[in-house]
Amino acid sequence: MEERLSKVLAPYKGKHNALIPILQEVQAELGYLSDEAMMEIAKTIGLPESQVYGVATFYAQFYFSRRGKNQTKVCTGTACHVKGAARILDAFEREIGIPCGTTSEDYEHSLETVACVGSCALAPVVVVNEEVYGQFKSSKISKILENLKE
Ligand code: FES
Repeated sequence: MEERLSKVLAPYKGKHNALIPILQEVQAELGYLSDEAMMEIAKTIGLPESQVYGVATFYAQFYFSRRGKNQTKVCTGTACHVKGAARILDAFEREIGIPCGTTSEDYEHSLETVACVGSCALAPVVVVNEEVYGQFKSSKISKILENLKE
């Protein structure tokens, strides 16, 4: 991990005004922002670690623990809520076998909710990795999970 981190951080030495892009790049490379990465980021750009954490924890897009290879987000915004998001979330929890907000022990899956993905006309909406599924039905879950194994 150290080598990958050094490579990402190299162009940012002393550039403390580039904190957000650095956090995004490091997360894209490592999958999350580890304690070690946060420490290295702070050292590289010359900001106190507390300030780097302060900024990173403000944004919901940053994660501080390792996540699953496959990330499922069930939209629970108003439109999706009205169209049965809670039932869909229950079904994902059952089929994947983990509670919402957690990652499976084998790091294959993470399951979480999201407030609105901006596709309310397609409610209920589920996002699996980069794929957006509109008018979602729980009956699709096993096929989606099957495809992810391939
Ligand atoms: S509420 Fe689900 S996409 Fe907007």
